[in-house]
Amino acid sequence: MGIGGHQLPHVQRGSSPVRVIAIDGPAGSGKSTVARAVAARLGLAYLDTGAMYRAVTFAAIRRGIDPSDAEPVARLAEDIDIDVADKVTVDGVDATIEIRSPEVTRAVSAVAANPAVRHELVVRQRQWAEAHGGGVVEGRDIGTVVFPNADVKVYLTADDSERATRRSKEMLDMHYDQVAADIARRDHIDSTRAASPMAVADDAVHIDSTGRGIEEVVEDVLALVAK
Ligand code: DC
Repeated sequence: MGIGGHQLPHVQRGSSPVRVIAIDGPAGSGKSTVARAVAARLGLAYLDTGAMYRAVTFAAIRRGIDPSDAEPVARLAEDIDIDVADKVTVDGVDATIEIRSPEVTRAVSAVAANPAVRHELVVRQRQWAEAHGGGVVEGRDIGTVVFPNADVKVYLTADDSERATRRSKEMLDMHYDQVAADIARRDHIDSTRAASPMAVADDAVHIDSTGRGIEEVVEDVLALVAK
């Protein structure tokens, strides 16, 4: 399998693939909260791959590199050390708060559309899974590209206004209209880009979280895992 013409290694542990629960979906669908809760309930590690794209974007802005300048951003992605756990650090600098800033949020789609950045981060995501013996991994291309053999694949959605309402509660310095417009713009870029666009894997289970509590959705995912 390749991304942008690059070959990627398959994740193998011994002779069998590691156990991965893939949770994909657009911004504000509840992915992060659900993925984190599922990981905690199952005692599995959790990886937020969106935070990795945000970390590269943060590093570019910090070094004065235009996030849409493909070559230098690709080189940067290969060079920097990114640690995504409870805290997100970039070359040892705590960027947990900054990666959620409106400035990073505005620029991250351009970085995520860069095929060489995607290649680098996908390699790191597979290495992470191997090092942790699998886990719950959330993003946009986890079930389609990063772990096409994931044990469970969920595509989580919610209707547009509910997604914007949820995000505006997190982005206190932005008005609802701005948040809604930003989500619509990112959805468009993320789903129409050439390199692994956000898509529903053929074998993913589609869960709509509109009007539903997190616990209910978590129970749905746990029931899929139990199957
Ligand atoms: O989930 P998030 O909003 O933190 O993601 C930030 C951006 O990164 C978003 O615009 C989509 C992109 N992304 C991606 O292209 N592939 C992933 N696996 C995860 C995120």
